[in-house]
Amino acid sequence: MDATDMGSDLKEVLISAEDMDRRLEELAAEIDRDYAGKEILLVGVLRGAVMVMADLSRKLHSPLQMDWMAVSSYGSGTKSSGVVRILKDLDQDVNGRHVLIVEDIIDSGLTLSWLQKNLLTRGAASVEIATAMRKPRAAKVDVDVAYVGFEIPDEFVVGYGLDYAEKYRHLPFVGTLAPHVYQ
Ligand code: PRP
Repeated sequence: MDATDMGSDLKEVLISAEDMDRRLEELAAEIDRDYAGKEILLVGVLRGAVMVMADLSRKLHSPLQMDWMAVSSYGSGTKSSGVVRILKDLDQDVNGRHVLIVEDIIDSGLTLSWLQKNLLTRGAASVEIATAMRKPRAAKVDVDVAYVGFEIPDEFVVGYGLDYAEKYRHLPFVGTLAPHVYQ
């Protein structure tokens, strides 16, 4: 899917596929440096993180394993409450592992704050976070994010894993939707 397939539904491209690729290359180099001599357990948070997990992992040279979690935040509509329910847990034991959580976006920061603490209580040797995008309000929550691709404005974005009503996840870029799509 590309911009032409979206027609008038696309308002603006915020992050092009090329810019995302370049930035992930930089993050991967940083991660390889920071984890030298260690094996990484990449933990992708379904479903939005599928694209960044696939792209970032293939740019890493460090030895790594991958696992997946699915979580759901209790809350009304689009607002997450910080209370998280595990829908699919990890298949691997994180005890003693160097975990790097991979996310598409951090919005309120509540999901990641909870997840980071949860994995540390399971005995992970370290738990860091890599996210393709971060919105400004995430800064208000006490969550330490080691690797951020792009700081983005507080707008509803789609593409590169992010959906609107389950659509647009397969857009190669990140963009905003025209108002008529919601109305
Ligand atoms: C998104 C994103 C994070 C979470 C971040 O997932 O992938 O997991 O929201 O929000 P927060 O910082 O406000 O806690 P979403 O719940 O939309 O599920 P999805 O990945 O399946 O689309």
